[in-house]
Amino acid sequence: MPQTLAPVGLTTGHAPFVEEARNRGDLYITQAYELYSEENHEAWAKLFSRIQPRWERYANDHFLRGVEALDLPADRIPRLSEVNRRLGPLTGFQARPVSGYVPGFLFFDCLRRREFPTTITIRPADRMDYLPEPDIFHDVAGHVPMHTEKAFADILVRFGDCAHTAVEQTAGIRDQRERARRLTNIIKAMSRFFWFTVEFGLMRGPGGGIVAYGSGLLSSYGEIEHAIESDEVQRYPVQMEWLINQGAEIDRYQPLLFIVDSFDQLFEMVGRLERWMREGKLDNVAPGLPEVNEGDLRSFMDAA
Ligand SMILES: [Fe+2]
Repeated sequence: MPQTLAPVGLTTGHAPFVEEARNRGDLYITQAYELYSEENHEAWAKLFSRIQPRWERYANDHFLRGVEALDLPADRIPRLSEVNRRLGPLTGFQARPVSGYVPGFLFFDCLRRREFPTTITIRPADRMDYLPEPDIFHDVAGHVPMHTEKAFADILVRFGDCAHTAVEQTAGIRDQRERARRLTNIIKAMSRFFWFTVEFGLMRGPGGGIVAYGSGLLSSYGEIEHAIESDEVQRYPVQMEWLINQGAEIDRYQPLLFIVDSFDQLFEMVGRLERWMREGKLDNVAPGLPEVNEGDLRSFMDAA
């Protein structure tokens, strides 16, 4: 009698399909949907149902409309092909499956092409609350609904332009150590900017309240509430000088968050980031986190 084997799963930390792709050096992969185990789908269903009431309370309206427009399933992991069919006509963005970490320049360059590098694995059932690396819940439930909003999608594209400007700006520097030093500072500034806005940004909501638009908050059951309600969090109007010089720690709830008034304001700020880069104002930002790793730096050096 033929035996049907249960799928091995695409679980963070245990996904042979993804590990093999990584070992082959393949960055772009397929979603291999049939490999998800029952437990993987259950993890999605649990994460999705648990966070719903918090989204209704704390998420910005663009995000809530995005979740509706994408019609994300509550009971199983979404197929990226279905998500993309709904997303494409709205802003041209597409979620593109990747095998793991995407080096800085390539990541921003993807955004410029309206592609969002998307993790396909999902966290194990016993680690629902904290995972340092992204998983499909963070990427698809936290980021992708924001990509249905035109003004926000345009901001991501501008980040991609900034990465190209960083390359142009430093390409002519003969002294390779100085070139690497300047790029390291620029990448640090861009990463901090991205971190405190796209990942952990807060926004003025209707009626003067505060809502979340950062995907690190939108995909975290615990932190979305903490970010908006807790007395332990400092919340300040966004300020460019501060953003690019403030260290960002990834493994704890954020003690400091920045509030934007609108996506128009954020779009204008990314433009200013690019101008500051051209003026050399990002060449010497405050030291500290995040560390710029060798792969990120290399991706910018090689892009020249
Ligand atoms: Fe993210």
